[in-house]
Amino acid sequence: MLQLNCTKSNPGGPKLSRVYIFDTTLRDGEQSPGCSMTKAEKLQMAGKLVDLGVDILEAGFPIASDGDFEAVDAISREFPWVQVAALARSTTLDVQRAAEALRHAKRPRIHTFLATSDIHLKYKLKKTREQVLNDAVAAVALARTYTDDVEFSAEDATRTDPDYLEEVSLAVVAAGARTVNLPDTVGYSVPDQYAALIGRIANLLGDRAIVSVHCHDDLGLAVANSLAAVKAGARQVECTINGIGERAGNAALEEVVMVMKTRPDCYPFETGIHTEQLYPASQALTRFISFGPQPNKAIVGENAFAHEAGIHQDGYLKEKSTYEIIDPKSVGVPEGRLVLGKHSGRHALKSRAEDLGFQLTKEELDLLYQRFTHQADNKKGLRNDEISALIQDVLAKAETV
Ligand code: KIV
Ligand code: ZN
Repeated sequence: MLQLNCTKSNPGGPKLSRVYIFDTTLRDGEQSPGCSMTKAEKLQMAGKLVDLGVDILEAGFPIASDGDFEAVDAISREFPWVQVAALARSTTLDVQRAAEALRHAKRPRIHTFLATSDIHLKYKLKKTREQVLNDAVAAVALARTYTDDVEFSAEDATRTDPDYLEEVSLAVVAAGARTVNLPDTVGYSVPDQYAALIGRIANLLGDRAIVSVHCHDDLGLAVANSLAAVKAGARQVECTINGIGERAGNAALEEVVMVMKTRPDCYPFETGIHTEQLYPASQALTRFISFGPQPNKAIVGENAFAHEAGIHQDGYLKEKSTYEIIDPKSVGVPEGRLVLGKHSGRHALKSRAEDLGFQLTKEELDLLYQRFTHQADNKKGLRNDEISALIQDVLAKAETV
């Protein structure tokens, strides 16, 4: 028999473990093409992220520019109760600059990183494994002199020798890191492989540190990889609104969160995200950067809750759950929109007319449907104002007759 659920339902539902959402829209997201924001825009976007309930808000990379430094400083002052993170390479100057930018934060996190894969060591850093290990430990130890909350990221972790990754992870935790992030920096990993790596380091570190994941979407697997990692023991997911970020982007926050919320039978985890703020956050970001999510983007795309095919609209109007697995209101989308296009049926047209305040007779509906299909044939879909105009026209004609 077809199995619809991952676990057999039990009366109290599955016990949910807490997963922390680390938002990097204002750092990894903001550093990508077309996404740069002014300090004022970053502050407004930070407000949206706070409303959304992210656990950790990465506000920037202070050594990278004065603008980033000021944004981290301003966000730390404006939202003193929030856990604000600042990025730093594993060097003294970077860590000091991050600490300075965070000096007004009540809950500062210094996030220091260093590449650990042989390919990065050989071509980019020109350092030995021993040197990298020492630099990482020194940066974490220095960061700990400013704050108890230190995260270490092993850049390009998924292409790093796992034995060496274990060595680095143990060493940075001994030096005081409370979170160890294992990024799939180049989006190369696949779910089974990533889960195996995360499980291995999570078992090794036990309660001594939280294992975090940070996935890029080069193969379109960032969300799948993040979720597989959570199942394997990761308890922090780094992600961005609309999935913005370097190259193909980062794991989309709204997708990671809604998978857990929609399928707790498969992913028995919970986050602190107020999901009805997802769409408003996505819309705000779209206003601040130069592009929005593609129309068919899950959760926040314009078509994510639109049903056009006549059969779908008919089923949806009879019972929403026939074609809708998420209530649009639960993610802050004003209302489920039915796009009326050439595939729409009379039933959907009648229902839309009623939504727009028109009660049509059978004859009026016949005439409207005739006119509508003619127009819809030449267009991508009719907006509410166009449908209203069409109805008024039909009603005026009917009255004349
Ligand atoms: O993708 C990456 O490896 C990063 C690190 C700096 C965390 O963004
Ligand atoms: Zn990244």
